[in-house]
Amino acid sequence: MSVVQFEAVGRTFRSGGAEVRALAGVTLQAERGELVAVMGASGSGKTTLLSIAGGLDRADSGRVRVLGEDLGRLSERRLARLRLTAVGFVFQELNLLAELTLEENVALPLEGAGTGRHAARSAARAALARVGLDGTGGRFPDEVSGGQQQRVAIARAVVGDRRLVLADEPTGSLDSDTGAEIMELLRQLCDNGTTVLLSTHNPANADFADRVVHLRDGTLDRIEERAPRTAREDVR
Ligand SMILES: Nc1ncnc2c1ncn2[C@@H]1O[C@H](COP(=O)(O)OP(=O)(O)O)[C@@H](O)[C@H]1O
Ligand SMILES: [Mg+2]
Repeated sequence: MSVVQFEAVGRTFRSGGAEVRALAGVTLQAERGELVAVMGASGSGKTTLLSIAGGLDRADSGRVRVLGEDLGRLSERRLARLRLTAVGFVFQELNLLAELTLEENVALPLEGAGTGRHAARSAARAALARVGLDGTGGRFPDEVSGGQQQRVAIARAVVGDRRLVLADEPTGSLDSDTGAEIMELLRQLCDNGTTVLLSTHNPANADFADRVVHLRDGTLDRIEERAPRTAREDVR
């Protein structure tokens, strides 16, 4: 079972009299443990694709399956449940809540899904450890660097063993060294079984991917299969 499967997915936005075909006829898949990079110019449909994969938006043609569920057949309530329990989101903006500690930020999605406070906090500490931030849970976002804040956002996306992480230009606001560290971390999560669907316009990030999906004006330009960077290094 693929973690994400798109079959001929389309999405058209209508605003006033104008129509924008944000996605048309997009077919792709991501398996367990894969990092799939979606590349394309600004406006090519990357964010729309990720939003549909995460159930934040719905396709208006084609079929989308996530973890075996046909999203088009799910009620809003079940879609919200899938978002809360199985899918994590990472955005370019480091959108942590400034008044909460790092641990509280990471625990939020679990508490939102109904996990008790104590268990949520303990899972948050484990997730912070997974992203290399063991022992920092009591700090506040403005007390750590931008790269560390993005790690916290990744911890929040994987907390409680979410199986799919959707990362929309997660390195876009970071310098290139910090961005590379974030990509290493995402690759490591995939090597441990998480699936990551990442949008980027940085070709260096695509080096960490198993598959690179190139979008142009909402349509699939081509899909490249790759031997990802860390896997290649492991072979040596
Ligand atoms: N909510 C919306 N309403 C109207 N048009 C939208 C909306 N979201 C995206 N679009 C349009 O869809 C196209 C694809 O946008 P987007 O998915 O954000 O591209 P990317 O993330 O690659 O920059 C763009 O032309 C954008 O203006
Ligand atoms: Mg975008």
